[in-house]
Amino acid sequence: MIDLTFPEQYVDILPEVRAFLAEEHRLYIGGRWVPALSGATFETSDPSSGRLLARVSSAQAEDVEAAVQAARQTFDSGAWHLKLTPSERGRLIWKLADLIESRAPILAQLDALDNGKPVSKAFKVDVPLSAEHFRYYAGWANKIEGATIPVNTVGMLNYTVREPVGVCGLIVPWNYPLLMAAWKIAPALAAGNCIILKPAEQTPLSALYLARLFEEAGFPPGVFNVLTGFGETAGAALVAHHGVNKIGFTGSATVARTILRNSAESLKRVSLELGGKSPNIIFADANLEQAVVGATWAIFGNNGQSCTTGSRLYIQRSVFDRVLTGMAEATARIRVGMGMGQQQPDLGPVVSAEQLQTVMGFIDEGQGSGARTVIGGRRMGGELANGYFIEPTIFVDVQEQMRIVREEIFGPVVCAIPFDDADQVLRAANETPYGLAAGLWTRDLQTAHRFAARLQAGTVWVNTWGDTDAASPFGGYKQSGHGREMGKEALDLYTEVKSIWIRVD
Ligand code: NAI
Ligand code: MG
Repeated sequence: MIDLTFPEQYVDILPEVRAFLAEEHRLYIGGRWVPALSGATFETSDPSSGRLLARVSSAQAEDVEAAVQAARQTFDSGAWHLKLTPSERGRLIWKLADLIESRAPILAQLDALDNGKPVSKAFKVDVPLSAEHFRYYAGWANKIEGATIPVNTVGMLNYTVREPVGVCGLIVPWNYPLLMAAWKIAPALAAGNCIILKPAEQTPLSALYLARLFEEAGFPPGVFNVLTGFGETAGAALVAHHGVNKIGFTGSATVARTILRNSAESLKRVSLELGGKSPNIIFADANLEQAVVGATWAIFGNNGQSCTTGSRLYIQRSVFDRVLTGMAEATARIRVGMGMGQQQPDLGPVVSAEQLQTVMGFIDEGQGSGARTVIGGRRMGGELANGYFIEPTIFVDVQEQMRIVREEIFGPVVCAIPFDDADQVLRAANETPYGLAAGLWTRDLQTAHRFAARLQAGTVWVNTWGDTDAASPFGGYKQSGHGREMGKEALDLYTEVKSIWIRVD
């Protein structure tokens, strides 16, 4: 039995959440809840308190085999993409969105407990954006069209149809557990695919709860399957399996390279949404008040645990001190605390002991190599000592070749760097293997357009940061990924185009 007493400063844990946590957590395969064949389990814990939350089935290769068989069978039977009309599929996806919305308090608590993020943020951001995502793609289900092509042959009709790819293995990270799953599941479903979801081992709970909502909505069995487990076992087996047509992955570039290697034998489709070292550029002519707030949340939002986090901050020299002072003041006001605390904080802990170690490693290295800490730089103690809390940290006096400037930290750490002119900062901004996001703050129209055109990134924000929308495509240039999620572009990742020729004359 797991002891479900939590720190006394926690908000009340909902009875549904308590009941859910107390249950045995099995795999969801072919519409049934089954334990891992080997009986293996792993533990997931609360990063705010370090306390054990649940033991979850740890899928191994044989469980992946069972899930692929179930998903394949459903796909090959056409139960989802052929026997239901597109609008029937859309209606089920919409129903799922309604269920997500009606269980928002439960899902928010599960993600807050598992990931550490403030429950208020999970409730206001992660869960509603997930529901919205399903709604957006519910609308696409009956709008995925082909074309009639005027080919150069007399008496020949040529047209295209867009078909689902088949069985999709969706491997997602822990930073927005429900939302990252929704980004992939929703377009895959709308296009008629069957899905095997592999949530991150740090945050498996909301994915399991989501499977219940699929059941409740009445999806045909086998359309949606969940395998909780580790990347090196469950993830790797999914990637290698010849019965899986496509892998959709969000996570580290290192694992993405492994996935590309391991998918080579089956030549399956792979789309990748990876990290970044996103440049955020403040020009002297910007609305500096706006820019200070924007740059502070560009890095510290979700504790820097976002793929688009604005971790390289370039500030025009004439306003460098002013902006930095403003940011240090704004940062000092950030409240860091337990994700489930009654006094809701702005930021919770980082997700795990490993991330704590990685991020603190970067901070120590930065300090050791001569960078100066303007604010932050330490692990937090006191009543937060059992969790993985790090002070929001701003570095200055950094050199471009330092690891803290070049590598993704994925934590609340920003490097502020002064620049003199536009060409210099443009070169520096693009001097990275990544290309997920970039931003600038200026009142000058020409600068805004010039930089929007020349920054090598899948998203450019001007006088704003972090906006995403189900309708707007999102993804990376260079080593930040392959393919675009969201918008109508995501449908390309989950469809094959078939060209059909018919002699009519
Ligand atoms: P990761 O890339 O190892 O994990 C992401 C997902 O991939 C998880 O579901 C994991 O189980 C799975 N996975 C791991 N190894 C696999 C394999 N060999 N085959 C198939 N699937 C596999 O990320 P991790 O270790 O949690 O974090 C390490 C770093 O990755 C972070 O510090 C951050 O820099 C980056 N990261 C980036 C994210 C993003 O949104 N771009 C999200 C999470 C991590
Ligand atoms: Mg890993």
